[in-house]
Amino acid sequence: MTATTYAPASESLRAAELRAPAPGSFPVAPASWYFFCTERELKRGPVARRMLGRDLVGFRTATGRVAVMDARCAHLGANLGRGRVVGETLQCPFHHWRFGRDGRCEDIPAQAEIPGFARQESFPAELRHGAMFFFWGPEKLFPLPFFAGESPENFCATPPFSFVAHGSWFLMVAQGFDTQHFETVHERKLQGPPVVDCPAPQARRTRYVAEVVGPSVRDRVLRLLAGATVAVTITNWGGSLFLVEAKFPRAHSRFLVIYEPAEGHQTRCHVMTFARRGWPALGLPLRRWLTRGHLLAEAELIRDIRYQPTRLISADVEMVRCLHWLATLPQGSDRPLSEAAEKPDSTFQPAGAPHLRCS
Ligand code: FES
Repeated sequence: MTATTYAPASESLRAAELRAPAPGSFPVAPASWYFFCTERELKRGPVARRMLGRDLVGFRTATGRVAVMDARCAHLGANLGRGRVVGETLQCPFHHWRFGRDGRCEDIPAQAEIPGFARQESFPAELRHGAMFFFWGPEKLFPLPFFAGESPENFCATPPFSFVAHGSWFLMVAQGFDTQHFETVHERKLQGPPVVDCPAPQARRTRYVAEVVGPSVRDRVLRLLAGATVAVTITNWGGSLFLVEAKFPRAHSRFLVIYEPAEGHQTRCHVMTFARRGWPALGLPLRRWLTRGHLLAEAELIRDIRYQPTRLISADVEMVRCLHWLATLPQGSDRPLSEAAEKPDSTFQPAGAPHLRCS
């Protein structure tokens, strides 16, 4: 395939415009929304996860409200993921201190007085489409996003599928603004230059129209069922959450990807596909299959990708701008990922079906 990448006025770009941020400029894990677990997992009791360099626990109270908090008990550090839900609280498995959704200790069986240190760091959490999401920060900086102009209740979603990509989170996010790879990796022949803007301070969006020209089975199925041209809108929120819309002549596809920074320059990716309720065309399983193939093929092709900020060319300018935007995002936690870097991540159980570990 011959690439016809649109490089915005390459001759007029100065070297300064192509200078990407240094690797240490990015937040370790930006303050944003992340996927925690499925609603189904919560039915079995508290769910422990080691993610973003921390031991976290999620749970659902007796009245159905959800919470995510630091899993290491403020007393002697027992893992609250091994505790149990008691009413509206989570009880530590060791000395039975009980913590509310806001992380405050509400009961200590051995004494009436509750010391000031008896508090877990807690995070805003929400259930949507059978998944629990949480905001990595003391308070959410923006609501859990959805597709512009649409309401979540009008859509159904597949359970998330997860995989690990071998590349730093900021480089994975910047791929969404990498004009060249739309053609070379995804085999979409652009019909004009992408339009990039920021619909909100925490969001960055690119829109383009392309022709589906790939010879793969997936692309042939797409052309047959949905059509050969597609208008794509990709919006990143907070550096972690992508909402992707692809409008074909005969179908409108939507999916969500959450990138989660992980140790060793890796990124965990969680994906959900959506369909409007009551619309049978291109059912959810087919959408999931197409989306999964699309993303896993990319993850395989770019595995062990390395950030080389001095090697960017004019055609990379939107990626460079995106990288600068990512470098300005706030850090989500006061404890760095490196604090826990030596600890092997053996507890990660990806939700839903197959897990690609590209090693
Ligand atoms: S370690 Fe949790 S109550 Fe003692």
